[in-house]
This record gives sequence, C-alpha cells and structure tokens, in this order.
Amino acid sequence: MIEFKNVTKSYEKNKSDALKNVSLFIDKGEFVFLVGRSGAGKSTFIKLLLREIEPTQGSIFINNYNIANLSKREIPFLRRKMGVVFQDFRLLENKSVFENVAYAMEIIGKSEKQIRKRVPLALDMVGLSHRINHYPHELSGGEQQRVVIARAIINNPTILICDEPTGNLDPETSYEIISILEEINRRGTTIVVVTHDREIVDVMKKRVLTLEDGALTVDDAIGRYGYEV
Ligand SMILES: Nc1ncnc2c1ncn2[C@@H]1O[C@H](COP(=O)(O)OP(=O)(O)OP(=O)(O)O)[C@@H](O)[C@H]1O
Ligand SMILES: [Mg+2]
Repeated sequence: MIEFKNVTKSYEKNKSDALKNVSLFIDKGEFVFLVGRSGAGKSTFIKLLLREIEPTQGSIFINNYNIANLSKREIPFLRRKMGVVFQDFRLLENKSVFENVAYAMEIIGKSEKQIRKRVPLALDMVGLSHRINHYPHELSGGEQQRVVIARAIINNPTILICDEPTGNLDPETSYEIISILEEINRRGTTIVVVTHDREIVDVMKKRVLTLEDGALTVDDAIGRYGYEV
C-alpha cells in the first residue's frame, strides 16, 4: 500500500537531512501512528506521500506504483486516493457544514444527486447529522474537526492522513475524534496519524513509527513510543 525505500529528503544544502534513509511498509487497512519530536520529519513524511515535495534520494510507492513517475496531470488523481486532516481546520467560513463537505465532491465533478445522497451519510458517520445546516463559526473545535474528517472521507479515499488531528482539542474530544478514525479504519481505510498525544497512542495499542532527527528509529507493533517524552 505505502512503501518508502531508502527515502532521504534534504531541503537545503549544508543542512541536516529532514528525512534520513527511511524505509518502511504500511499495509492496506493498517492504522499507524507517526510520532517524534518537533522537527523530526513527520510533516515532511506526509508532504512526500502527497507528492507536495519530492525525495532527494529513494523512492515512494503507493499501491506498488512509484509516485515519482506520475506526471503533473496525474498528481490530482493520486491525491484523490488520499484524504487529509490537518490541525488547522481550513473549513470555508461562508459555507454551511453540508456545503463544506459537498464542495469536495463538487470539485471532482460529482452530480447533485450523488452529493445529496453521500454528504448526509458522511456527516452521520462523524456524528454531526444535527449540525448539517450550521456554519463553521457556530461549531465547537471538535465539531469542526468532525466536518474536516467528513470532508476528507467523502470521496472514499484508500488512505486517510491526519497531521495532529487532535492538536487543539481537550482530551475527551480528542478521544472522540480518534474513535471516529478507528471506525473509518474498521471500514477498510488505511490510516496514518501524526501526533504528539502520547496518552492516545498509549491507549490505542496500534503500530507506532518513531522518527528521531529524520531517522526511523523504532517501528513498534503494539503502541510503544520509541523515545522519551
Ligand atoms: N520548506 C522547508 N525548507 C527548509 N527546511 C524545512 C522545510 N520544511 C521543514 N524543514 C526542516 O525539516 C525538518 C523536519 O521538519 P518537519 O516539518 O517535517 O518536522 P515535524 O516532525 O513535522 O515537526 P512538528 O512536530 O514541529 O510539526 C526541520 O528541521 C525543519 O526545519
Ligand atoms: Mg509537522
């Protein structure tokens, strides 16, 4: 599903590499946490996956396809396979909850009919059916994050990538968000979650990849951090 082969990324000459010879394999249907101190290379890993940036050395495969071989025109199709959830919510303030989620379908040319059918299902999945006509400023942080998740899964991505999805939320709301991600995973979507939230990682007992100063130092199957917090 996702494979990194000896991937190195350096942003600038004479600076330490942001990723150092990282090799890993994430299978279809896995739920993986990616942890590490600030600057360890987590967001770099995600940007490489989305092909927002390219490796300095090494190769990245998604579904056995080397994404370096994608033409500019093909990159949007790669990104459609991936849903993304970032800490800064980025909802459209002048659109309702329904419209925010619908927008992700409109831009890839889905019909009115498909949109009217699917958006309520996605909002139900994240427990937000009762907020469908509200606007972002009328929602709590946790509710806004649910909308972002609904939007990220609306086009059935095979991989859902989350960079600090619980970053601004209190512990209880964070658990609710992680439970939603777990349910999405149960339905077959591969999930990669970048987080600093040690409590959640400890409770979930999922695979944990630890980056230290750009190197993948620990790959633990049962949820242990590879570094001291
Ligand atoms: N566009 C860039 N140009 C130059 N250096 C960069 C760039 N983006 C990231 N870096 C450097 O690469 C290293 C890894 O950064 P990255 O953003 O991947 O870390 P991170 O693990 O996501 O950190 P955080 O937890 O703070 O989000 C850091 O040393 C950072 O300064
Ligand atoms: Mg980051």
